[in-house]
Amino acid sequence: MPPCGIAPDAVRVVAPATTANLGPGFDCLGLTLDLWNVATFTLAGEGVEVRVAGEGSDVLPHGAENLVVRAFRRLVDEAGAPMPAGLRIDCEVAVPLSSGLGSSAAAIVSGLLGANELLGRPASAAAILALATEVEGHPDNVAAALDGGLVVVVNGEEGLLTERIEVRPIEVALAVSQIEYSTSAARAELPTYVALADAVYNMGRAALVVEALRRGDLELLGKAMDDRLHQAQRLEHMPGGFAAMAAARQAGAAAVAVSGSGPSLIAFPAPGAAVGDVAAAMVAALAQVGVRSRPFTLATTDRGASAGPWPAAAGVETAAGSPSG
Ligand code: HSE
Repeated sequence: MPPCGIAPDAVRVVAPATTANLGPGFDCLGLTLDLWNVATFTLAGEGVEVRVAGEGSDVLPHGAENLVVRAFRRLVDEAGAPMPAGLRIDCEVAVPLSSGLGSSAAAIVSGLLGANELLGRPASAAAILALATEVEGHPDNVAAALDGGLVVVVNGEEGLLTERIEVRPIEVALAVSQIEYSTSAARAELPTYVALADAVYNMGRAALVVEALRRGDLELLGKAMDDRLHQAQRLEHMPGGFAAMAAARQAGAAAVAVSGSGPSLIAFPAPGAAVGDVAAAMVAALAQVGVRSRPFTLATTDRGASAGPWPAAAGVETAAGSPSG
């Protein structure tokens, strides 16, 4: 990494929720949602202290094992810099944990951008995406969290290849399930090899999902948002999941998918359908089998994570997370 520039004493990072896969786009499609974690990094005190407010404040660790700190440390190591003697991180967490809404991606991106900003931005956007993917284990949520909008991301010969696509803002409905189903568990049981016919089934649909979201064509989205690579296996671990997806369609959803690796479900209302009704229908269907969930209605956004000195000087733009390319 190049030498560091001028570094501030405190920085603030905002990082969004994301939904990955979008049905057929397993590990290669991510979409940014307008729900934001805020992390303020201050060079102060001794050692590392993390304060957490909001989602997960009762369970998230306050020290070195916190994911924001681990990501922070990863970038510091990569830059060849020493960890700060004293670092306080104040996290306001809005993205529900372990829900399929990219909470770990938001934490990782926060830590990486916080460290990069405090060190005077030694890491390029591509380096930050590579580090985020390394820490997360898959690129779709972190790429969308960094870039904003709809992101297509694949492993290229010279690193990750990403394409950011601006999408028309869409209101989505979510049932954020309280069942415990971690991404690692959800990935562990997926097969290493899949049938060619299933791969073909997903490839064409993933391309159509991208085009449908790009032009805001909910009818096409409804036809294309289906999957044969991961959702069925995951829905087996999500009691009421199939029924909730059917309930969403009955309430006016054009398309429904498992959000990321689950356990939340995401639905895209057809024109004229009430997004709140769709979310409520999914929550009610899950409740019928004893699964508690929370209804969320969120807009998609073209904004990605950003970081800047804190307190911000008037009129100063924060650095974007990761412009593509
Ligand atoms: N693509 C990842 C998976 C997303 O499906 O496991 C996890 O949020």
